[in-house]
Amino acid sequence: MNLLEENQATDLEQMVGLTRRRFIGAGALCGAAMFLGGNLLSRSALAVNAASASPLLGFAGIAADTRDTITLPPGYSASVLISWGQPLSRHAPAFDPSGNGSAKAQEQQFGDNNDGMSLFAFPGDNNRALLAINNEYTNYRYLYAHGGAPQSTEDVRKALASEGVSVIEVRRSGDTWQFVQNSRYNRRIHGNSPIRLSGPAAGHDWLKTSADNTGKKVLGTFQNCANGKTPWGTYLTCEENFTDCFGSSNPQQAFDAAQKRYGVVAASKEINWHPHDPRFDMAKNPNELNRHGWVVEIDPFDPQSTPVKRTALGRFKHENAALAETRDGRAVVYMGDDERGEFIYKFISRDPIIHDNPKANKDLLDHGTLYVAIFDAGDGDADHPRGKGQWVELTHGKNGIDASTGFASQAEVLIHARLAASLVKATRMDRPEWIVVSPTDGQVYCTLTNNAKRGEDGQPVGGPNPREKNVYGQILRWKADADNHGSSTFSWDLFVVAGNPGVHAGQPKGGSSNINPQNMFNSPDGLGFDKAGRLWILTDGDYSNAGDFAGMGNNQMLCADPNTGEIRRFMVGPVACEVTGISFSPDQKTLFVGIQHPGETGGSTWPEHLPNGKPRSSVVAIRRDDGGIVGA
Ligand code: FEO
Ligand code: CA
Ligand code: CA
Repeated sequence: MNLLEENQATDLEQMVGLTRRRFIGAGALCGAAMFLGGNLLSRSALAVNAASASPLLGFAGIAADTRDTITLPPGYSASVLISWGQPLSRHAPAFDPSGNGSAKAQEQQFGDNNDGMSLFAFPGDNNRALLAINNEYTNYRYLYAHGGAPQSTEDVRKALASEGVSVIEVRRSGDTWQFVQNSRYNRRIHGNSPIRLSGPAAGHDWLKTSADNTGKKVLGTFQNCANGKTPWGTYLTCEENFTDCFGSSNPQQAFDAAQKRYGVVAASKEINWHPHDPRFDMAKNPNELNRHGWVVEIDPFDPQSTPVKRTALGRFKHENAALAETRDGRAVVYMGDDERGEFIYKFISRDPIIHDNPKANKDLLDHGTLYVAIFDAGDGDADHPRGKGQWVELTHGKNGIDASTGFASQAEVLIHARLAASLVKATRMDRPEWIVVSPTDGQVYCTLTNNAKRGEDGQPVGGPNPREKNVYGQILRWKADADNHGSSTFSWDLFVVAGNPGVHAGQPKGGSSNINPQNMFNSPDGLGFDKAGRLWILTDGDYSNAGDFAGMGNNQMLCADPNTGEIRRFMVGPVACEVTGISFSPDQKTLFVGIQHPGETGGSTWPEHLPNGKPRSSVVAIRRDDGGIVGA
């Protein structure tokens, strides 16, 4: 088969097999580590597969790495765009590395642990853009001078200030993009910012508290994981591990079935805000829990706008929100619930998107239908399983969801979306993380990051979750029937099953045939498509480089050709980081990527490498030294 025929082939399974043989043939190490033009932030790595069989992948894949730096292919460099604590205006206090900075200061500075982000170009000016960036959580060992759990109300306020969203302006100056410190668009939305609740659950009794008897006004968004960008120019930030922020002053408090299902426990999970802020004390404010776990919509171009929690999209541990459009023009939002054995959802708006008047879509996400996915057992193929699936509607009065099964209204269905989805027997997945939609063929990709409990706890092995005690993860793909995201049925396959062929011979733990010793990774999490259709894969995995994970090194970013299945390692992050959050400049010549929690367990001073310095989560900008399109 010549190259052209190979790229046009439709039998992916055959393609993947060919890819692996090709990798093994090209696996010898070549090239040498070196510094790039005095830029110590990034290092050029050992190339492991320079020869390209993919028309999409134009860079040399690099080796795994364990150094406290960013490693890139030869011909690429990285620079820091913004770091945790950087003041967002000239008047904001400077970052204080001692940990003694105040909560008020943190409210005016770039938040901690940056995660998902979206870039919004200024209309008519591709050299100016806003970046809306999630700040997921914080590391107490670096946030506070005392380095431990919060000890005061001020400590809790500072933690809340470090989370949420940062909106920043960036501008291109010469070849590089830089943060604009004094832009009027720079803004923090944090854990104490006023936010509105809207949609079918807004105003429900379960959302009312002593501080808000309307059930429509809430303070704050926190645990903001990944994101979405709407066609009408707004940003979606997704509240993930919100339950961990709650605890109870009554260690014996009995939680109901829904509270348990969402994971609340009296002791809190290390976050420990409830002893110092009664809002997070389940013994005093149990309904506060119901006011979090939503998708929040933000207009980045209106710094005065109030963010809105869109309850029509359901309440769960939201990872991200991937937008698509039905054949008849309505908005589709694909969403994962990141917990072992939880589900994949889809929302379809009632009304069509009005593309020529963005503001007319301001309430589009308040009306529509929520669905949850059921996957069949598939064909059971050991390397490349595939099958069929369907979307089941989560609407009060349908599919057995009514008062007799515990749901008095659609508001209750949405607040307890997990319970409604269980009722219709949705498929329990291996921790759904990011979902993205291909810009070239509309196929949808979802990372199933790992699930050590697969095979236990009522979670059967099979279908898109094929491996018992799954420590490596896989990437699921589906194609809507009739090429219509409005279809209630779809076909699925597994794009890649991660594994370690250096430790485990063959399948299943060696991974699928597009995994080899040169590109192996674990726990795929972030995903991003560039305009040309390259699939970028970001990992949040075990970085021990030992045992099951020997040879995988630090967390990393890879790039895949969706047509051939070929995957190459593009970037390796610093020590103990997670790589998460991805956006591209409009010309695709700069890739913005997030480095979250470097040194979360110590061992890192990235990116400044100051003596006894602290590591700082940062967004970095990656460019090709020759100014070309990244990845090409
Ligand atoms: Fe915040 Fe599931 O990652
Ligand atoms: Ca994630
Ligand atoms: Ca993860």
